[in-house]
Amino acid sequence: MYRLLVWSSKGGVGKTTSVANLGPALARRGNRVLLVGFDAHQPDLEMTFGIEDDDDVTRIEDLLAGSADPLTATIEIDDPMAPTRDHKPGGSLRLLATSERLLALTADVAATGRFDALDRLLAGLDETADIALIDTTGAVTPLTRMAMFAADGILFCGEPGVYEAKTIARRLDELDELGVEAGHAITPVGMLFVRTNARSRQLRAWATAFADPEQFPSGPLYVFQTHIRQQSSVRDHPGYGVPTVFADPGGRVAHDYAAAAKELEARLAQLAQDQAA
Ligand SMILES: Nc1ncnc2c1ncn2[C@@H]1O[C@H](COP(=O)(O)OP(=O)(O)OP(=O)(O)O)[C@@H](O)[C@H]1O
Ligand SMILES: [Mg+2]
Repeated sequence: MYRLLVWSSKGGVGKTTSVANLGPALARRGNRVLLVGFDAHQPDLEMTFGIEDDDDVTRIEDLLAGSADPLTATIEIDDPMAPTRDHKPGGSLRLLATSERLLALTADVAATGRFDALDRLLAGLDETADIALIDTTGAVTPLTRMAMFAADGILFCGEPGVYEAKTIARRLDELDELGVEAGHAITPVGMLFVRTNARSRQLRAWATAFADPEQFPSGPLYVFQTHIRQQSSVRDHPGYGVPTVFADPGGRVAHDYAAAAKELEARLAQLAQDQAA
């Protein structure tokens, strides 16, 4: 199971929305997908799929406390989109949930330095899925550190702009050190522009910033050709303020995430090939 952390340098950018849409899109392409909700401050991913904080389901904090079996803890999620002929067989979608109770572990994790707890937990689920998408908070906290230790790769989500390139460049520097501490490489998988409403010429100019060797001395960051466009109907949605699974399958955001899932598959295959060579 490849573990992909979806992350941004800022909050409220579209991480959870990306996980909630990329997950089903990858499942439709025949992948067994595990969504991992790891944002204890705002369990938005859980809410998106209708799981409330007081629902009686096993959570990551229960698993970390050793009071439940990870193999029975994941929850099957129904695809919000009806099956079509394009959907490949074999895909599935499951969710590993968290709640605000996870926050109680923060101080303990920081004090004991047990940043590898999620890493070890997910290792137990290795055979159950092809890819895990981890959603966490944008702030750098002990829990984010745990999420990073658990990740094989990081997919950055961001709004295009030069400021974004600078911040991400700084994060990439930290990633190498973090990988050494975690004991395995944490690969920068790429940058996915989300909520874009800019012209394509502007987007190309921003993408070039990520290839600037002055800003990215350790090599350019792959920028996804697919951009997730801004969808105004999201603002009019009754669920605005909480992330939304884009119920409108014909909507352009759903279309963009389908394309992003395809590009992500190709990118991960390329990285695996590079690593094997
Ligand atoms: N493509 C889009 N078009 C329009 N609105 C969007 C789009 N993607 C996300 N949003 C909206 O932007 C808001 C923030 O998105 P989201 O919650 O996914 O961000 P986040 O990075 O997970 O935030 P946080 O850091 O708080 O966890 C949500 O209200 C969401 O519905
Ligand atoms: Mg979020």
